[in-house]
Amino acid sequence: MASSPELETKPTEDTEIPDASSFLTEIFNPMNVVLSFIVCVLIYKIYRNKLSKASVDPPIPELPKIRKDMTAAELRQYDGNQPDGRVLVAVNGWIFDVTKGRRFYGPGSPYAAFGGTDASRGLATFSVTSSDKEYDDLSDLNSVEMDSVKEWEAQFREKYDLVGRLLRPGEEPTHYSEEEAEETPVNNPEEKKDQ
Ligand code: HEM
Repeated sequence: MASSPELETKPTEDTEIPDASSFLTEIFNPMNVVLSFIVCVLIYKIYRNKLSKASVDPPIPELPKIRKDMTAAELRQYDGNQPDGRVLVAVNGWIFDVTKGRRFYGPGSPYAAFGGTDASRGLATFSVTSSDKEYDDLSDLNSVEMDSVKEWEAQFREKYDLVGRLLRPGEEPTHYSEEEAEETPVNNPEEKKDQ
């Protein structure tokens, strides 16, 4: 049977056998070189950002939790300027430890005016200003503003540790039981004794 000329295979003499030089040519083709360069630049940028962030933001040391009711005057000490850098903020009569949000409320931060104060009125009225009242009962806020205060309170409850109540003048602080103190683990027992 005669074989069809189209089906005949060509002689193999000009078929390329891969060698080291063609392998290198393949690896270093312009597209691969460009892609490798882009990957290297991206990796460099990611690591450079991580390294510079680590040197700019020193880690916030873990502070012992506090459970305590305070007057507005006591609260004012916790604006982040003390050596331990603790920042407390009151919202709707409750005090929260916002130290982990120091970048918002610590000295020099955008909402530093709220650090160590009752932020309720400012939050409700979109005004980043400190309250200088000894106690603000918020009774003149309208219902929309009060809803806003309650929403902020809920947000703070979710994100930050509760410290205690903001006391009206003459109001007695609650003495939190051992059980309640145990619910908030303390890192440094010596400091806890002082509180
Ligand atoms: C142009 C107006 C504003 C812009 C663009 C803005 C933007 C922001 C941004 C980007 C954050 C960070 C959110 C995050 O990383 O979780 C933030 C946080 C915050 N903003 Fe504003 N803000 C504005 C106005 C205000 C006003 C008027 C108030 C209240 C008076 C306010 C209160 C806050 C507070 C309390 C936080 C921190 C929340 C937390 O503790 O998680 N902001 N804002």
